[in-house]
Amino acid sequence: MKVLVIGPGGREHAIVRSLLADPNVSEVHAAPGNAGIGKLVPTYAIDGNDPDAVAALATKLGVDLVVVGPEAPLAAGVSDAVRAAGIPVFGPSKAAAQLEASKAFAKQVMAEAGVPTAMARVASTAEEAADALDTFGAPYVVKDDGLAAGKGVVVTNNRDEALAHAQTCFDAGGSVVIEEFLDGPEVSVFVLCDGRNTVALSPAQDFKRIFDNDEGPNTGGMGAYTPLEWAPEGLVQEVIDRVAQPTVNEMAHRGTPFVGVLFVGLALTSRGTRVIEFNVRFGDPETQAVLARLKTPLGSLLLAAAKGELDKAEELRWSKDTAVAVVVASENYPDTPRTGDRIRGLKKADELEGVHVIHAGTKLDEEGKVVSAGGRVLAVVALGTDLVEARERAYDGVELIQLEGGQFRTDIGRKAARGEIKVVSSATGTLPVTKAKA
Ligand code: AMP
Ligand code: GLY
Repeated sequence: MKVLVIGPGGREHAIVRSLLADPNVSEVHAAPGNAGIGKLVPTYAIDGNDPDAVAALATKLGVDLVVVGPEAPLAAGVSDAVRAAGIPVFGPSKAAAQLEASKAFAKQVMAEAGVPTAMARVASTAEEAADALDTFGAPYVVKDDGLAAGKGVVVTNNRDEALAHAQTCFDAGGSVVIEEFLDGPEVSVFVLCDGRNTVALSPAQDFKRIFDNDEGPNTGGMGAYTPLEWAPEGLVQEVIDRVAQPTVNEMAHRGTPFVGVLFVGLALTSRGTRVIEFNVRFGDPETQAVLARLKTPLGSLLLAAAKGELDKAEELRWSKDTAVAVVVASENYPDTPRTGDRIRGLKKADELEGVHVIHAGTKLDEEGKVVSAGGRVLAVVALGTDLVEARERAYDGVELIQLEGGQFRTDIGRKAARGEIKVVSSATGTLPVTKAKA
């Protein structure tokens, strides 16, 4: 099988790496890729967000499957164009990608499907925003309604700051979703969907804020680990039964079947499991950790999903190891990042036992040296027999990486390794369903 992977980041590097380990995959191509992907497979300098360009490349290469990594090409209709060219594609249509591209749309679908989520209101004026903020009270949660690469959400106790964020979104011509605050640990569950059937991957935890102890602004994600020893038994089944399957059914019912990854972002709150958000693609950097443990051949699995045949796919098999991914970001991220700096120590880190380096924002300069080219530059991924060992190995790798101004969190997986995460959820399966007012 020949596969084309679309996207420029760490998630796509991890996907390419796993595809190359699938005995049924004979060739992998990527566009546009990055320096790490380019070391593994041929890459093509096309605009990955351009539906016609991607469909033309897939046709020219004669691939059997296209895997679309990020949300932007999905929201732009890349999957539709590839499907129209007669090639199976893992990734939802433009219409189904609205589950991520519009938070208001996602809330409507959740309400229709009876999925437990935060109570929410859509606001498009300062008055509506103020009213919604006062309805739910502090802490305030204000979300840009459109795609914002994980950076459009402000959670704050400061009412003025919440209003100011809403106003920024209005000034840009958008609207906001204002929600009740959800307490409790967050979990990412990736559910493979083929339009009808659902298969959940092993849950992971992401670290959204830029600084240790969850301080500073939100980022795309600064690290991840999996599996979650502390997660309640039955969590994955609850996610399938209460969230993923009802959502997939609702999308099919609407005539916009969902094919790809439904990324369920959950909060395990004191009042039960709640969906924080849907994404329509693999999470980054969770994927770097999750795929490091997946033993089932990835290409065959994604092709089965693309063809509507997940019910015939083999059962998932996982390594017993724990995986940790620590992101190294450039100076000033998540604001405008500093780029163009040499990255050293990549090979040394890769050679450590149980460690591999996944590139995100990297490229080759004129001399063929790897330099930084984005906010999140790379992730050091490590497997270990437990979280303590996996963390040690990942941080040993991070210590070997040299990047001027580079920043990373030192506490990825630390609370879990110390047994400090507590879930106060009530028993699963009996939770009240909150209908969105959207
Ligand atoms: P989102 O883009 O919706 O995933 O939001 C980004 C991050 O903001 C989430 O991962 C949470 O950490 C935080 N967040 C979003 N919605 C809520 C909420 N209702 N309550 C508490 N935190 C939230
Ligand atoms: N790491 C969260 C995301 O990919 O949105």
